[in-house]
Amino acid sequence: MSIPSFTLNTGAKIPAIGLGTWKSAPGEVTAAVKAALQCGYRHLDCAFAYGNEAEVGQGIKESGVPREEIFITSKLWCTYHSDVEAGLDASLKELGLDYVDLYLVHWPIALNPKGNDPKFPTLPDGSRDIVKDADYSQTWKGMEAVYKKGKAKAIGVSNLSVPKLERLLKDAEVVPAANQIELHPLCPQQEVVDFCHKHGILPQAYSPLGSTESPILKDEHLAKIAEKLNCSVSNVLISYQVQRGVCVLPKSVTPSRIEQNLKIVKLGDEDFKFISQMHGGKVHRFVKPNWEPFKMEFPDWE
Ligand code: A2P
Repeated sequence: MSIPSFTLNTGAKIPAIGLGTWKSAPGEVTAAVKAALQCGYRHLDCAFAYGNEAEVGQGIKESGVPREEIFITSKLWCTYHSDVEAGLDASLKELGLDYVDLYLVHWPIALNPKGNDPKFPTLPDGSRDIVKDADYSQTWKGMEAVYKKGKAKAIGVSNLSVPKLERLLKDAEVVPAANQIELHPLCPQQEVVDFCHKHGILPQAYSPLGSTESPILKDEHLAKIAEKLNCSVSNVLISYQVQRGVCVLPKSVTPSRIEQNLKIVKLGDEDFKFISQMHGGKVHRFVKPNWEPFKMEFPDWE
């Protein structure tokens, strides 16, 4: 099956569909990665914080697909903002690789690297142990350094709103190649998608199906569109993102679904318009961690 691709601002190609690995249990993800690579995926979306990169690396090895044929993304976790290279090295070691194709700042938030937990440090009152005076533009300098070293073939961000992107671009030497955000019909974030397109930043969709127990997958109108196009609702949701110029990262650990999700269909204007308007003027995020007092600056998230 041929998978379309987007071109990053580095000139590199990135397959339009990648396998998401968040919430894929370590015991399941090796088989999922292997199944994905063997049925044609060439793009894996990973992160240190998912706690399963060693098993992802094992799946890559077991698949027999050569490393250089696969586009692999990982993400800098919040406790590594003051030492980007150490964060990247930790992921590379787990994955068993010597470079990633894309490295993203997972959240624009620094957590105390010397706190009471290596990933999710907390203060005595139970709130997150955030480094309050940290500046993600400084973190970006560390990202630029690993890019220049060649350990990350492209660098980007995740969970950035328009005001935060604007601020980053003011000081950035390297324009981010991608911004990975929650995108599905109930969370279209059109203003972020438009800003990214305007500045040569590829928008990437996490939770494109609406995450675990998704109500979107059960939508009756979408089921009718899927029936008409002889595909599944997941194919409609994935194709919708590709059609709006978004790289899409559906997660599954079920081999039949992994394979099913690779099929892209062409949505007609009316169906595209219907899906674009499903949110009805409200935003529903499935992923909304409490980062208070840090401000995300998304219009729906304060
Ligand atoms: P599973 O991993 O058990 O197969 P998202 O990508 O929005 O985060 O959604 C992931 C969720 O959607 C997971 O619960 C995953 O289940 C489920 N899922 C993935 N692909 C399909 C599919 N083709 N049909 C139904 N559910 C799916």
